[in-house]
Order: sequence, then C-alpha cells, then structure tokens
Amino acid sequence: MQTATPTAAPSASEKARAANAPYRERIIATKRALRARITDMPQRFAAITERVQRQLDAIERERAAGIEPVPQIEFSALDRISEAEKAHIRQRGCVVIRNVFDDARVADWNAELASYLERNDYLAKLQKGGAVDNYFNTLASGRPQIYGVFWSRPQMEARTDPAMAQAHSFLNRLWRFENADAPSGQVFNPDANLLYADRVRFRQPGDASLGLSAHVDAGSIERWIDPAYQNKVYRHVFGGDINQYDPFDAWGRTETEEIPSPAVCRMFRSFQAWTALTPQGPGDGTLQLLPVADAMAWMLLRALQDDVAEDDLCGAAACRAMLASPEHHGMLMRGYGSIPHMQAGDTVWWHPDVLHGVEDVHRGSGYSSVMYIAPAPDCAKNRRYADLQRPAFEAGLSAPDFAPDNLEVDFAGRFTPGDLSPLGQRVMGY
Ligand SMILES: [Fe+2]
Repeated sequence: MQTATPTAAPSASEKARAANAPYRERIIATKRALRARITDMPQRFAAITERVQRQLDAIERERAAGIEPVPQIEFSALDRISEAEKAHIRQRGCVVIRNVFDDARVADWNAELASYLERNDYLAKLQKGGAVDNYFNTLASGRPQIYGVFWSRPQMEARTDPAMAQAHSFLNRLWRFENADAPSGQVFNPDANLLYADRVRFRQPGDASLGLSAHVDAGSIERWIDPAYQNKVYRHVFGGDINQYDPFDAWGRTETEEIPSPAVCRMFRSFQAWTALTPQGPGDGTLQLLPVADAMAWMLLRALQDDVAEDDLCGAAACRAMLASPEHHGMLMRGYGSIPHMQAGDTVWWHPDVLHGVEDVHRGSGYSSVMYIAPAPDCAKNRRYADLQRPAFEAGLSAPDFAPDNLEVDFAGRFTPGDLSPLGQRVMGY
C-alpha cells in the first residue's frame, strides 16, 4: 500500500513563477537584452556590491556604537538642515522628522479615530462585507491591524495641515526634480502636493498578524521590464556609468506604469511614510528599514547574474510586494533593523526603493498606531489619480487603490468637501 506524500506548500519561487506566467516571455526577453547591453557586468556588479557593502559596514559600526543609523531631525529645524545632513538623508534613503504635530492634537486625533471606528461599527461592517486584497497574500485573523478608513477627520486634518505641507516640500526637495526634458523643466513640483488617501494602523499588544518581511512597494518586476524604469530611472544601472546612478534623480519616476493590481499605489510617492499616533519603538511591532538608498541598484543587477534562472528576477512577482529573498539578497540583511523609538506626532519617511517591513510580533504594552501619510508631488501621473480619488472622497468610498470595502459611505462624522481648508482643496486637486 502506498502512503500519501504530504504536498509541500509552494515555495516563494514557485509562487513567483505562477504570478509571472503572463509576463514570462517579457521577463526572459528583458533579461537577455539587458545582459547583452551590459558589457562590463563583472566589474559593474563588483562596483555596486562594494558601494553597498561599504554602507552596510558603516551601519553595523554605528549600531555597535549605539548610534542610530536612521537620520533624525526636528520639524522646527527643517529650514536649517545643512547640505551635509541632506546628503546623509539621501544616502540612507530615510529620515525621522520629530514633533511635526504636538501631543494634544495627536491625542485628540487618536481618540477621535477610535471613536469614529467604534460609533460607526467598523468591525461588524467589515466582517459582513469587506473585501480582502491579496497584495501580501496574508489573511489577518480576528481584529485587523490595518483599518480601511480613508476619510476620518483626523486623517484629513493631518494630511491637509500646513505643517504636513512643509514637511512634504522639504522631502520633495531632496530629489533632483529639475530636468530639461521634462515639461516646464520639472519632473514634479516639489512645493505642491496632492493628497494620497491611505489607511490607518492600530496594532494591539500581542498582535502577531501581518508582520511583513523586507520588501519594496512601487513595482516588482516592473523595475526591470517597464520602459520608464529601465531606460530612465535605472538608466545608469543598466548601462553607462553606474557611479552616475542617483536614487534621488526623479527623471522617469513619474512615468512608470504599474501592472494593475489591488493595493498597488498608482501615485508617485517621493517617500512612503507614517505619522505616529502613539509612542512606539523597537519590539512594539514597528517598522524596520534597510537604510541604504541605492541597495536597489544592487538587487537589479543581482537578478541578471548567471546563477539566476532566465525567467526569474530573484523571486520578484507581478502584483505583489517585491520581497528580499533570503537566497539572493542575504548580504543586505545585516543592515536591516528597527527604526528608533517614536513619540506621538513624530513621522518616519523612506524612499520608494528602500527595503522595509514590519516586526512580526508586537511585544509592547500599548497600541502602536499610525496614519499613513506620504508626499505625492504634483505631476501628470498624480493628477490622474487625484481625479479618480476626488469622487471617492465626495461619496465616502474607499480610495481607488484599495479594496472596495466602501464602509465609510454612511459613517457619522466623516470629513466632507465642505470641511476642506483652501490648502485642503488644493491638495485634493479641486
Ligand atoms: Fe510596504
């Protein structure tokens, strides 16, 4: 009699292969073309490996000496940040800006958000009809960690506050946004943001759901196969002088086309970010980062090495977050770690190429709660999305990038167009 062999769960590379099936020929052709185009691969890959390793060494040394590798600045000092400090933020690809909002205001927002969810029966309504996206392919059980509300008063007040606009300008201006080939000479306008309505996180102590391993958003296989990524954003990675590659050169970033998928951001965000509603630190289920802005250049070339199959991009899978693979990207992980302790009203910002994730378990004692609010500077790509987002705002629907739960339609206390300040009208694109 034969015994049944247990079926192994599909491996990461098998899952990626299935997700990439419609793009398989394009991946193979792209890899062939890039490998043919790059005539100095051994030297090029050695150069970027060394460039990244030097930074990993520095980060390890800093951590060993008790120095926090994520740059930290005060909101009140934004107009006095030195060029050297800006260069450091660009190299690390991330920054903590402290005290953007004062404690009393954030405490009011935190209480109002909890009340908004409670008095409108969010959880019961979610269980009845909520849709689930599979971007992270993870089903959270019980009380969720991420709440799909977009139009509460606290979220809208924080997004449309002059302090937020000032922080966004500062961050956008870390980019090289001027380019003679762009319309009006600018890839985007750093001082005019459009609002990107995202969700909130209330992570309760003990929560072990939806820890996220190291990943990037803003495209997975697109980073190789999309023409704007390949020929503009990463032009110095896939050809020419790799020392010219600058992750903060904006050229092409606003022209990339995502493969349509639920929960993939259709706006260009100059940084991903959140604003802390509660104090939270390492161990509290908080954010982890690899503070190396150009590690992506190494990941891109890593997938073109001889030991990676012709249809494989080191596990990058269409319509999914692009995960760091233990098999191929292990070298990077010694630089990966939790962000410093955050107080309510502090904010953290990371470049769209920066590997990030969330600690598996919340071992702390209080809720770790955040509002995701990222800068999306004015450009044609972002205006297109803003045009989709405005009607959703007016009707109280879920923001167009997210699962269409549409739970807020009849929520009491929802923020409405009549509540917008003049700045609020501008960032909504009215
Ligand atoms: Fe992410």
